[in-house]
Amino acid sequence: MERFIFDCDPGHDDAVALAMAKGLSEYFKLEAVIATFGNQTREKTLTNALNLVQALELDVPVYEGSTEPLLRERVVAANIHGENGLAGPVFPPCRIKSAGNGIRYALDTVINNPGEITFVSVGPYTDLAVCIKSDPRFAKSLKRIIVMGGSTCGGNVTNTAEFNVYADPEAAKIVFDSGVEIYQFGLDTTLQVMLNEDILNRVRNSEETTYKKIFLASMEYYVKSCKEFIHDYPAMHDPCTIAFLADPSIFEFRKVRVAVDCKSQLNYGATVDLREAENKNVYKAVKADSEKFWNLFFKALERLP
Ligand code: BDR
Ligand code: CA
Repeated sequence: MERFIFDCDPGHDDAVALAMAKGLSEYFKLEAVIATFGNQTREKTLTNALNLVQALELDVPVYEGSTEPLLRERVVAANIHGENGLAGPVFPPCRIKSAGNGIRYALDTVINNPGEITFVSVGPYTDLAVCIKSDPRFAKSLKRIIVMGGSTCGGNVTNTAEFNVYADPEAAKIVFDSGVEIYQFGLDTTLQVMLNEDILNRVRNSEETTYKKIFLASMEYYVKSCKEFIHDYPAMHDPCTIAFLADPSIFEFRKVRVAVDCKSQLNYGATVDLREAENKNVYKAVKADSEKFWNLFFKALERLP
């Protein structure tokens, strides 16, 4: 079973990814969650991660990731995810606490288990970049990297940049240049996996559970903000990474090399595919089977508390 660390910035779609990680646990082994800054400050995403792990009854530690990007000024996505980063659901008082420094945890775990651990990053890639830069054994020891982020079909923050890469382009460059095998889920593919009213109705008609309430309350907010700022219904960006771990046949890939624009003013944080490059190391998802994705989601939903 593939063992992975889940680095996230919850975040409405991050929360769905965590729920799928719980509900589909027969396919993989989630080792730990690291909360990084991104959709909101690290303080807020950590609170959200702890609340979600408790509500989902996930038996994994939650660590603290980075609070700031490597070089640029911090940006957050309060317009989409709200002032607390996960607007909508109300959680009971949280009994679980942070397990400590996520960078230290990731370095130790990956280096002590060479070839065993996959790192999944669905927020800015700062934690991953810090680990890669801190110790050369880290990149060599990783099994593979799975990221949500980047786009070659237009951006969702600027015309060309996607949020996770835009929030720390210098970190994304370190990750894409690391030489580790990478699976990339950018907007090109995640925008093929959209929520819609039929899916929402199917959830509304499902058994009453704690997670059902969380999902419907958070999607109510997410739909409203996406309709206001981006497009109709929200895309299931981050959950694509978990769906891929459970059923890789949902996605089609093209092998490319990904470059990150860290210099230009207009395209700062944009990703560019270098298809002709010799040292291609990124399996870029280009197509998603949305029906298969939602079937997997409902399989997870049935098993959630
Ligand atoms: C990414 O940005 C965040 O707002 C989402 O959680 C997702 O990881 C999509 O661009
Ligand atoms: Ca995210």
